[in-house]
Amino acid sequence: MTPLEAALAGVWLMIPALVPNSAAVLFGGGKPMDFGRSWRGKRVLGDGKTWRGFFGGAASGVVLGLVLMGVAELLDAQDDWGYGSWPSSLCVVLSLAFGSMLGDSAGSLIKRRLDISRGKKAPVLDQYNFVLGAVVMVLVFQPGWFLDHYIEGNSIYGLILFLVVVPLLHRGVNIIGYKLGKKDVPW
Ligand code: CTP
Ligand code: MG
Repeated sequence: MTPLEAALAGVWLMIPALVPNSAAVLFGGGKPMDFGRSWRGKRVLGDGKTWRGFFGGAASGVVLGLVLMGVAELLDAQDDWGYGSWPSSLCVVLSLAFGSMLGDSAGSLIKRRLDISRGKKAPVLDQYNFVLGAVVMVLVFQPGWFLDHYIEGNSIYGLILFLVVVPLLHRGVNIIGYKLGKKDVPW
């Protein structure tokens, strides 16, 4: 792949990790994941992390991942523009989607420990918590796929473009969520 193709594939393949965060806002509500409990005087996760948001978000990522798998298959490009062969491809998609939501929850756990209340800004942590969760998860379950698509050869351009695009997308989506009345703050 050329550097440009590799860069675009890097962003394309991370869609199952990018989408859960925004989808969680749409699905959110109901029981908080920490059931309202506190730890050392502060909420464990806070009211911004709900079970519906977690599973709705992760499921959206999985569904999109299945769509991308279908697209790659139609184009006969599972290796460059997909997640490889079945069933490890499904394992990559599940790792990206659930890892993303786990990273998001871990981010809130850290924010509460640092005494940053729900919805208050935590630069870097807010933008990259889900990226780290998805990458760690995929490194645990399908390390070969990550090395092939984000580290080796030109695929490093995929990692670079992805890391640059994440905060821009995050900001854009949050502004839309705010305008739609789904979020109280535009970040
Ligand atoms: N959301 C949810 N469940 C999740 C993740 C998100 O219900 N597991 C919903 C909540 O309505 C949340 C919104 O999506 O308020 C935005 O998510 P996020 O910015 O991650 O949460 P914050 O409210 O900013 O809380 P925190 O400070 O803990 O990040
Ligand atoms: Mg937030």
